Amino acid sequence: MWKPMPSLILIAILISLCPGSCLGAYFKFTNVECKGLDPKFVEFKECYLKMVRRNVVGMNFHLAVKTDKPIDKIEFNLCIFRKSNVYRLFMVNHTLDFCYYMKKPQQYPLFYIFHDSLMSATNANHTCPYQEKDIFLKQMTLSEKAVRDLPLPNGEYKLTVTVGAYKVWRLQVSVYGVRG
Ligand SMILES: *[C@@H]1O[C@H](CO)[C@@H](O)[C@H](O)[C@H]1NC(C)=O
Ligand SMILES: *[C@@H]1O[C@H](CO)[C@@H](O)[C@H](O)[C@H]1NC(C)=O
Repeated sequence: MWKPMPSLILIAILISLCPGSCLGAYFKFTNVECKGLDPKFVEFKECYLKMVRRNVVGMNFHLAVKTDKPIDKIEFNLCIFRKSNVYRLFMVNHTLDFCYYMKKPQQYPLFYIFHDSLMSATNANHTCPYQEKDIFLKQMTLSEKAVRDLPLPNGEYKLTVTVGAYKVWRLQVSVYGVRG
């Protein structure tokens, strides 16, 4: 039964059952959706994918921050869904304290897979607080290492990141992708 469970254990089992070729060579983004959940706090100005080369697509967004106060409490949730007729939750539904994470990212192996790819594409690449009025993600692609380490068998996925500040969910980004 695939229910949300201690996912790192399942991931370790999956990797050991699934060496080399059954984890694919790429993870290609196919669609992205950005949703502001609190228009007084943040608003998306842009959100799109752009082809880089075959099987490599860059993710982009521009987020306008409306609040004046520097932000120093951020909740970050990642859900991974795998498609089998419909998208079902696939092992991962984790929430973390993002400000703590940015101090010690290696302590979160699952999130750390995406770390370098994310940090090299955004201006939000530092520890809290965040005072930027504009946060960008520019042509984010997964590094070769991230693609290699991503513990997902071939298939179609949706990765949803929901971000909160001060315990209120403020925005959500869902990226669809094919692992092949
Ligand atoms: C993830 O977990 C939270 C907290 O347990 C829950 O409220 C939420 O509905 C879950 N998300 C999904 C997609 O199942
Ligand atoms: C963070 O992003 C800014 C703006 O894109 C860049 O100038 C800076 O070098 C980056 N810092 C790190 C540590 O990657």
